[in-house]
Amino acid sequence: MAQWGDSKLFFCCVLFIACYCTVTLAQIPMDCCLSFKNKTIDKRRIVDFRQQSSGKGCSIDATVLWTRHGRTLCVPADEPWVREVMKYVVHLKDLCKKKPKDRRCVRVKHV
Ligand SMILES: *[C@@H]1O[C@H](CO)[C@@H](O)[C@H](O)[C@H]1NC(C)=O
Repeated sequence: MAQWGDSKLFFCCVLFIACYCTVTLAQIPMDCCLSFKNKTIDKRRIVDFRQQSSGKGCSIDATVLWTRHGRTLCVPADEPWVREVMKYVVHLKDLCKKKPKDRRCVRVKHV
């Protein structure tokens, strides 16, 4: 009898920890921008971007830019210069799909 009680307790603990971790991870994504810099940057340094929205666990709306050197930059979500950068990156990825050997495609992720 004692053994059955122990395993039930153990099961509860595992369940509790699993639930707790899932909720914690869902609420605090590791890669949220907490603030951004509204400073234009050379679009040729950017190889990827991602939209972050405040509705999905992050505290602010922003655009995350990846540079060729693997750094991430947080910039405003809806600025004309940011849209230019995103347009450039979309074109770049397109080009790199067709010509992966192009000099401009160094470190561009192939998706
Ligand atoms: C970013 O800078 C531009 C130009 O300097 C300005 O017009 C715009 O209002 C700024 N946006 C934010 C979100 O600070």
